[in-house]
Amino acid sequence: MKNISEQLRNAQNRDRMLALYDAAPYPEVLQSSLPQTTPLLTHWINAVSGNENPALSNNSNLLVAGCGSGAEAFMLANLFPEAKVVGIDFSERSIAKAKELALTSTLSNISFEVADLMSADCKSYDSFDFILCHGVADYVSDPGILMQTLAGCLSEFGVIYMTANSPYHPAGRIRDAFSTLGIPPEAFTDSPDQRLVLQLITQLMGTDAKLLGLGTAPKAYLDVDIFPPIAHHDSMETWSRHAEEAGLYFSGSMDAPIGLLQLSDEQLPMLYKLGKAELSQWLANIYQRPGMQLLFSRKKLNEPNFELPALWDWHPRLDACLGLLPELGEDPNQLRSLTLRFQGLPDFVINSTAYDLEILRRCEGKLSLGQIRKSIAVDGNTDSLVACLYRAYHYGLLSD
Ligand SMILES: C[S@@+](CC[C@H](N)C(=O)[O-])C[C@H]1O[C@@H](n2cnc3c(N)ncnc32)[C@H](O)[C@@H]1O
Repeated sequence: MKNISEQLRNAQNRDRMLALYDAAPYPEVLQSSLPQTTPLLTHWINAVSGNENPALSNNSNLLVAGCGSGAEAFMLANLFPEAKVVGIDFSERSIAKAKELALTSTLSNISFEVADLMSADCKSYDSFDFILCHGVADYVSDPGILMQTLAGCLSEFGVIYMTANSPYHPAGRIRDAFSTLGIPPEAFTDSPDQRLVLQLITQLMGTDAKLLGLGTAPKAYLDVDIFPPIAHHDSMETWSRHAEEAGLYFSGSMDAPIGLLQLSDEQLPMLYKLGKAELSQWLANIYQRPGMQLLFSRKKLNEPNFELPALWDWHPRLDACLGLLPELGEDPNQLRSLTLRFQGLPDFVINSTAYDLEILRRCEGKLSLGQIRKSIAVDGNTDSLVACLYRAYHYGLLSD
């Protein structure tokens, strides 16, 4: 139970955040192009929900929690014209803007409502197959309560895709550096002097701050993202704990597929025992990226055992990128590569033999890998097969 002064402080901070969002509805503040609409993210997300009940499809109910003026909701409604898309936000001004935009669009599958994710308002939102929550979690008074709300909105097989700042996001270090110079975060005013200090600090910080363009970012962005009254920047471990307390499972992050791109097949076997969540955690601790793209699901993943011979019993199913796979050809051991190119993300490449890729092609969920192997007339070398399957699994192309 929180004491009264803490409750009061939370309420004041919430009102200050709301005033900032009302003053500059997102995403106008900083035009961002999110990669979550790309096909890869659809594969990656649906691999967690399972192909039987895909989170993202034309039959899904989709919720954008903290939708601002609706950019993500419009993207989803365009991508899945038969799906029902609802956007909610506690900023009346943002929702008014989203509704105006909806009136001028031809989309009939989208609606917007004012609701506070931190209150009981959201009880009526339930059974969503997919919830997108981008750029919200770090700025609410209690991220655990946010997770409880989102869990309450989720269907039985639903998946939450959340982005959050990691403890390595430069904002915390910038605030500390300002405080040390006698400017507490709440006193940031973006005067010419303070802008110079910001540029100096971000220059000294190097890559992350420069990449995010923090030295020259608009004032409205600095107010809400760098110097807001609330900023958590929790770790992946903390988010896993919030998920568990809300009856959900942490089911992986984009750190896993992106991290695997850096590793050779020879380096992978030590990692075979790590499932999606563990691999994500392991790589996030090494990479220390400023942001995290996290998946949470209600259903616990049934993860394959990548140690042979157990792997031969797995009945995996390949997602729809089937057509991109090269034909087997005459030499099963010929090296082939399958490149998956998606906007906003590095290329996802599977370098393997024609034989490995033929096995991948035949994964329809009916036969076990052992049976598939027997169904191929030629006998190929299986040295690289497990690495090929492990990559495909973590890229979201193969699921149980
Ligand atoms: C950084 S903006 C991101 C908006 C949008 N997801 C995007 O990326 O374009 C955060 C949004 O979350 C909303 N928000 C913050 N706290 C909220 C709460 N407790 N309930 C509902 N919406 C909230 C804000 O009003 C704001 O529109």
